[in-house]
Amino acid sequence: MRRYLIAPSILSADFSNLGREIELAEEGGADIIHVDVMDGHFVPNITIGPIVVEAVRRVTSLPIDVHLMIENPDLFMDEFIKAGADMLSVHVEGAIHLHRSIQKIKTFGHAKAGIAINPATPIASLENILTELDFVLIMTVNPGFGGQDFIPTMLSKIELLRRWIDETGLDIKIEVDGGVKKSNIADIYGVGCDILVAGSAVFSGGDPARSIRELKAVIDN
Ligand code: DX5
Ligand code: ZN
Repeated sequence: MRRYLIAPSILSADFSNLGREIELAEEGGADIIHVDVMDGHFVPNITIGPIVVEAVRRVTSLPIDVHLMIENPDLFMDEFIKAGADMLSVHVEGAIHLHRSIQKIKTFGHAKAGIAINPATPIASLENILTELDFVLIMTVNPGFGGQDFIPTMLSKIELLRRWIDETGLDIKIEVDGGVKKSNIADIYGVGCDILVAGSAVFSGGDPARSIRELKAVIDN
């Protein structure tokens, strides 16, 4: 069986109790903590900045995956990495000098560099940058909010990217973000996803540890 990682998105967590929510996610077997950064420009919502990442860093030793849904991401990536990010993704639609952005993440040494792409953006937009990446984050909802429905046509997009990456022979992970639930997680894993982000499916049911165990059980069985 191919390995997979579960990355709960804290966007749907109870922010008044964030430390405990992350502890419960860890208890359930979370592999990565996914943090959604939104600026009110690139997406119609505002969320969190480096100080929250710093706080998350203090309560977990899991890798922190920072998904930058912001304009001018280059201006902020060093702050997020200093705050404790282990993975950083910038949007192909938000970064004008994408190659420079990826190089910039890499100059900080340890952080993995990724590119996120919106549902309507074809994977062909990665053609001249793919080999530079540690991971690609495929958005399967329009970014901005948790709790939206997975867009079904994204399955074939993931599958296509999987085939392309396998052809390169490089170790580039595919992360899928948006609408991941018990009802579709096996299909998403099945078409080649390595890292499954889940926000509302983990934190909206009241028992994050159990929800993660249930998501994993669907794939494992
Ligand atoms: C959406 C964010 C996602 C979101 C996922 O813009 O990037 O990470 O939190 O939430 P769910 O799993 O509820 O779709
Ligand atoms: Zn995200």
